[in-house]
Amino acid sequence: MNYLGKGEFQIQNFPYSMLNVLYKIRDSCYNVVSLALLSRNPRQATYLKPTISNPMNSNLPLDLTLQNIPNHVAVIMDGNGRWATKQKLPRIAGHRQGAKTLKELLRCCKDWGIQILTAYAFSTENWRRPTEEVDFLMLLFEKMLRRELGEMHREGVRINFVGDLSALPKSLQNEIQRSILETSNNQDIQFNVAVNYGSRKEIVSACRQLAELVQKGEIKPEDINENLIEKNLYTVDIPAPDLLIRTSGEKRVSNFLLWQMAYTEMYFTDVLWPDFDRDAFHQALLSYQNRERRFGKVKAALPA
Ligand code: FPP
Repeated sequence: MNYLGKGEFQIQNFPYSMLNVLYKIRDSCYNVVSLALLSRNPRQATYLKPTISNPMNSNLPLDLTLQNIPNHVAVIMDGNGRWATKQKLPRIAGHRQGAKTLKELLRCCKDWGIQILTAYAFSTENWRRPTEEVDFLMLLFEKMLRRELGEMHREGVRINFVGDLSALPKSLQNEIQRSILETSNNQDIQFNVAVNYGSRKEIVSACRQLAELVQKGEIKPEDINENLIEKNLYTVDIPAPDLLIRTSGEKRVSNFLLWQMAYTEMYFTDVLWPDFDRDAFHQALLSYQNRERRFGKVKAALPA
């Protein structure tokens, strides 16, 4: 057992359940000492408050199970406009803050061992917003890519985009291609940004590609199966999301990953996207870990 300072110990080859007990004892000791000191010096007591971390991944909160962390989390970042209005700010300030929230979430996903994060940044329907807002969003995506690419690269983020990118401003398309290329060998976390994405459009596009293959005689209609359709979606090679989070109290999927989310767990929260912090994400993961995913099977048929 190595003492790492700040009350943290590294214990190797120790049973996980025993470790949980040890951590609980440690935290109780801290509480007793903190309470005792609180009466004498309130400031000192707060310094002693332990970070409750998970022994299997020191970054993960103790009440989350590492083995049941979702592999792929998708987010519908809703409520930017309402957040801004509440602060008496223009809507675009909400999007700017929302971009910061997304950056923090990406870091949190990496810290907590989540492999893939997919964010719905702009839908095929979002073109109907006022021109100034659309222009602002396009510029924001481009600026974020320019500004954050270096740091994301250093942090091992592999950037990917899903959607019909051909309709985006040329300068944004260039930044997108550059970010995809530069980060293509990174392996710490995959970050998919859905821009000009619409699930129905994606499925139509897949159908057309397969119809063309049939027309050219390269495949027969009976060759078309789920696997072949998946290979023709924008999300080719991306496993289905395990958890979808939508913020701001809306309970819809709004044309996002309709095919891919057949068995995704849904989590809806009233928190507005710019306020969706680590604590809010922690709550979403706790809810996810309390669910039983049966994928159409009955409980007895599931592997132990
Ligand atoms: C929905 O909230 C939000 C959007 C359509 C834009 C989301 C984009 C970001 C958070 C920026 C992300 C940045 C990068 C680089 C990917 P809303 O405006 O519909 O909110 P409202 O329902 O309260 O009006």
